[in-house]
Amino acid sequence: MTDHSDDDALRAIDALQPEHVFIMASDDDPKPVLRRLQSDRPRQFEWSVLEAGPARYRIEIRRRAAAGSRDVSEYLGGDHQRLADILTEVTRLVGDGARADAARLFAEFACGLNWHIDAEEITLFPAFEQKTGILEGPTTVLRDDHRQIRRRMAEVADHLKAGDAAAAGRAITALDDILGEHNIMEEQVLYPMTDQAMVDRQERDDLVKRIQIT
Ligand SMILES: [Fe+2]
Ligand SMILES: [Fe+2]
Repeated sequence: MTDHSDDDALRAIDALQPEHVFIMASDDDPKPVLRRLQSDRPRQFEWSVLEAGPARYRIEIRRRAAAGSRDVSEYLGGDHQRLADILTEVTRLVGDGARADAARLFAEFACGLNWHIDAEEITLFPAFEQKTGILEGPTTVLRDDHRQIRRRMAEVADHLKAGDAAAAGRAITALDDILGEHNIMEEQVLYPMTDQAMVDRQERDDLVKRIQIT
């Protein structure tokens, strides 16, 4: 993988076919490029943070099949699925004894899930609370879950680092259990309630844009 100047990266991104991905790697904060994608190429790309600095950044950028407007359910629900698929692959690698690969892939998973949790706490939850006026409801429970999820992620990383496959497997199962329940509550309660609280498609899409650039 090589580093890219912003213009080189944008050229490679513009050349992407639908559903194809480009990994943008750099030593600098990628936010300026991501902001340009949002402002100059609205709704055409999704991205996932694989490595979040401060020394090194890697962002996986995907061209969407269609550039239609999005809502929170589609956007963050899709990210739940993406992360669940990665965790399944980590479990397989742990089972196969591929310790270094499992640790590397789990680091990408943790980076993505930490980003997802930050985006919810910094952007989504305040938007939900402001639009619905519900301050002591689902977001209180979900914030508690997030603290537990982060603790479980740290346990998995510690066991992988120590090379204890059995303990890592058990910690992944515990993480998967709490994530499963947490995601159901978000997908069945918080995301749809947030989408319904927005006045129209434009407002839903604007919120997704703010979540995406968190
Ligand atoms: Fe969450
Ligand atoms: Fe979530």
